[in-house]
Amino acid sequence: MDEKKSRSKGVVREEKLCENLSFAAKEAFKRLRTNVVMKFPAEDSTCKIIGVTSAQPSEGKSTVSINLAYSLAELGKKVLLLDADMRRSSIHQKLHLEKTPGLSDLLGTANSISTAMRKYNSSKDSTSFDVIPGGNTPTNPSELLNSRRMETLLRALAKVYDYIVIDLPPVGAVIDAVSVSRQVDGMLLVIRENNCPRGLFADAVSQLQEANVDILGFVVNGAMEGAGKKYQYNNYYY
Ligand SMILES: Nc1ncnc2c1ncn2[C@@H]1O[C@H](COP(=O)(O)OP(=O)(O)O)[C@@H](O)[C@H]1O
Ligand SMILES: [Mg+2]
Repeated sequence: MDEKKSRSKGVVREEKLCENLSFAAKEAFKRLRTNVVMKFPAEDSTCKIIGVTSAQPSEGKSTVSINLAYSLAELGKKVLLLDADMRRSSIHQKLHLEKTPGLSDLLGTANSISTAMRKYNSSKDSTSFDVIPGGNTPTNPSELLNSRRMETLLRALAKVYDYIVIDLPPVGAVIDAVSVSRQVDGMLLVIRENNCPRGLFADAVSQLQEANVDILGFVVNGAMEGAGKKYQYNNYYY
């Protein structure tokens, strides 16, 4: 459960996700959801693949990916959350699901998709979405993400879902996000308030732009932790 806690000024706080988010955080994710949905024409019913990345680790990609997937599923959409940050996969931990077999195992061997498929069910209502966790930590995650098999997998999955949310590695540390960005319909860039150096963020944006990625928006993860403050997700700028 260590991953489920955040530490600030000596205070350890339980991280809340999905149906357990605070009212303000839920509203923020509804706004994010509306912005994502409205980016695509209403009459276009094909699956939309949304990548979530950041300039460096720990900006809140996995947290945002999970809550976005949940928020889209609340609309009754068929949603898959894919943990593609295979070096530092954390979706399974945050949602209390088995880590393996997962994406790396699907890409590394000829395992069938069903072996890696999990389901997240809300404890409060009937909202649910499918999850493919990261799987065994691979030695060659960049090659796997960039592989023909990844393209084939996404194409097969896109036939089944309304939305696929992909939790990607950071752009700055490795180039995975840029290589996979060819396969997404749009990218969200997460930035933790007062955390990411401006130059690093600008570099990430230019790398994505050079790769012709459609940047859907920037999610400012307004983490306000510590004495007397709850953490909030109330700053989404588009
Ligand atoms: N808004 C927030 N307030 C408090 N803690 C947060 C917030 N967003 C993320 N965290 C915590 O920060 C850490 C990194 O977040 P995570 O989503 O795992 O980042 P990433 O996937 O970008 O590495 C996690 O421990 C998570 O619980
Ligand atoms: Mg993560």
